[in-house]
Amino acid sequence: MLDAAEAAGLYLHAMCREGTCGVCHAHVSEGRYTHGPIAEGALIDAQSGGVLLCRCRPQSDLLIALPYPLADIHRQPIQPRGATIVELASAGSDAVVLKLAVTPDAKLGQAADFVPGQYMEVGIPGTTIRRAYSMANLPNWDGQIEFLIRLKPGGAFSSWLAKQARVGDKVELRGPFGRFVLDESSTRPRCFIGGGCGFAPVLSMLRHLAEFQDMQSSTLIFGVDREDELFATDVVKELQAALPMLRVTVAVWHPQGAWHGFVGTAAEAFAKLLDQGGEQPDVYVCGPPKLLDSVQSVAAAHGIPPSQIFTEHLGAA
Ligand SMILES: Cc1cc2nc3c(=O)[nH]c(=O)nc-3n(C[C@H](O)[C@H](O)[C@H](O)COP(=O)(O)OP(=O)(O)OC[C@H]3O[C@@H](n4cnc5c(N)ncnc54)[C@H](O)[C@@H]3O)c2cc1C
Ligand code: FES
Repeated sequence: MLDAAEAAGLYLHAMCREGTCGVCHAHVSEGRYTHGPIAEGALIDAQSGGVLLCRCRPQSDLLIALPYPLADIHRQPIQPRGATIVELASAGSDAVVLKLAVTPDAKLGQAADFVPGQYMEVGIPGTTIRRAYSMANLPNWDGQIEFLIRLKPGGAFSSWLAKQARVGDKVELRGPFGRFVLDESSTRPRCFIGGGCGFAPVLSMLRHLAEFQDMQSSTLIFGVDREDELFATDVVKELQAALPMLRVTVAVWHPQGAWHGFVGTAAEAFAKLLDQGGEQPDVYVCGPPKLLDSVQSVAAAHGIPPSQIFTEHLGAA
């Protein structure tokens, strides 16, 4: 489907093109198609016509509903831009902070221009491999971009970061992309849930709210498997100081030592929050598909409508 759309001058949202990242998901409401294999855990509802467009081969004309408006469809290939690694440091036991400086460009300028919550695609130099990473910092004129990246054993980008990448290396960026952004018109309380490196876009949103000294009540639930995976705890403290209405729960699923905070998953911490009653929040959740599934089930069980739930999933693998 992606090839057919591109032949017609429509560059639909996609990244890995191999059924892993989930970026190209859509719904087919009419027509016949076959569907190739997808990664275990990929979130598509095949029963109701859910497809990954990169795995979908049409057998007739298809009527497809995309999860983004027509204006978000690019009409020409997206031009990459250059950036240089300016910092690469560990963050917890299995994650890194990667900071880039965008290369000034006569047409595109130098600014790191994005909306908190969005992501960019980053290429491994000398290859065609690209991966999506959400910005953890704020948009800025200096062209600074900060990612929080969990190193997956055996993963292509993870292995490059762990073994080869060095400060000064040049990389290629595409973006920004994504519709996981704040509904700033809402007056409801907000609940932010970040699982592992799903914390990155949530951090960008909270930094944005802190910049404007937002006074709406909000809760941050930061979930990790083990306490040695925790990172950015100093940043969370700074956010709490800047946002007096922010409550923070750090949920550790399998603590290894004497952990005095919440024991359980981020979804369980969310259920506990909702059990306390109060106005139903807007929910912003980013993490692996299982976390999104659990949070959506908890929200549904507490009567929160889907329109109040904003999700970004970090791929199936
Ligand atoms: C919109 C979006 C935003 C994202 N934001 C972030 C973010 O902010 N931070 C972050 O850390 N991640 C983020 N991700 C996830 C990120 O894009 C990558 O998927 C992730 O970093 C893994 O990439 P990789 O190249 O290291 O691993 P991959 O090479 O993609 O492999 C993933 C896993 O599969 C395993 N694997 C690979 N090939 C095989 C095989 N043939 N057989 C069996 N197993 C295999 C690997 O061992 C690894 O564990 C985001 C994803 C999306 C879609
Ligand atoms: S582009 Fe289809 S799943 Fe990644």
